[in-house]
Amino acid sequence: MEFKTHISVKNLNLWYGGQQALNDISIDIPDKKVTAIIGPSGCGKSTFLKSLNRLIDLQDDVKVNGQVLVDGENIYDPHVEITHLRKKIGLLFQRPQALPMSIYDNVAYGPRIHGTKHRKDLDGIVERYLKLSGLWDEVKDRLQGPASKLSIGQQQRLCLARSLAIEPEVILGDEPTSALDPISAEHIEQRFLELKKQYTIILVTHSLRQAQRLADYVIFFYLGNIVEHGPAAEFFRNPKDAKTQAYINGRFIEGRKADKELDLKGTVCPANFVKAKLALEGLDEGKVLRIIVDYEPAVSELPRAMEYEGHKVLEVKRLSATDWEIVIQRL
Ligand SMILES: Nc1ncnc2c1ncn2[C@@H]1O[C@H](COP(=O)(O)OP(=O)(O)O)[C@@H](O)[C@H]1O
Ligand SMILES: [Mg+2]
Repeated sequence: MEFKTHISVKNLNLWYGGQQALNDISIDIPDKKVTAIIGPSGCGKSTFLKSLNRLIDLQDDVKVNGQVLVDGENIYDPHVEITHLRKKIGLLFQRPQALPMSIYDNVAYGPRIHGTKHRKDLDGIVERYLKLSGLWDEVKDRLQGPASKLSIGQQQRLCLARSLAIEPEVILGDEPTSALDPISAEHIEQRFLELKKQYTIILVTHSLRQAQRLADYVIFFYLGNIVEHGPAAEFFRNPKDAKTQAYINGRFIEGRKADKELDLKGTVCPANFVKAKLALEGLDEGKVLRIIVDYEPAVSELPRAMEYEGHKVLEVKRLSATDWEIVIQRL
């Protein structure tokens, strides 16, 4: 596949403390295509994604060397302005991180910071990006209502609108549909297919089927290395490496086993917070707790609260129409 390169990563190494998480990564990411990043848990996919807009800088004790060239400019160059860089490269998380304000203000937030003041201009921006994210028809009559009242699937589309309103060139998504119901997930997928005409999209996904539906280009990570990459059709039809073959054929055992399970079905706030907190405190450092919830607000609030307690949220995934799993590591 001949393509125009948008982001070129050259010999990127990254360490958390003394632990190397990315090993000499070199890869060219195509312009205005969907690139899917796949691989088992803990292999460095999120780390790689966060290194592309230097969100990784927010973590203590991280060391990076190598280059990430965006439009030919190395983003790790000391002269690079981080605010400008993050404006260029938006990021969607696994759990929608809607701001505690109205739907309107969520979308207007970025443009206001970047200097758009007139109400009329902002009205236009809010409408345009809510339409582009496929949410407008559902919220146009309650723009001043709180974003927190939206369903998780709607909140994720709101976060997409908020990212788009800053007019980025690149959209990164870290398993952005894994906590959503199938309909909302499909909404987001449709948006990505539409958006790739104008944006470079890089998605970490757990779902091979999603990668097959969306990706033009695929990168397979394993233990901090890129094992294989290539145009999606070729990658799935004819994987070359034995590890890629094993992963694609589902013979790869997913790494993460929980040390403890906690069923919080039927439990609401704040009892669920207290139970999760106590269960985590009962574990040794580094151990993993798997929680099952069936109360939708808990899907975004419980992880936030446990992060506030100093733990690390590893995964939030929808299991069925009513249930989610939240996997948290005791730190
Ligand atoms: N903030 C952190 N501090 C220390 N180690 C981390 C941190 N974040 C991730 N890691 C480690 O780096 C490796 C890659 O993690 P991650 O990028 O989250 O993988 P993935 O997204 O593929 O599941 C894992 O071994 C993980 O434990
Ligand atoms: Mg991850």
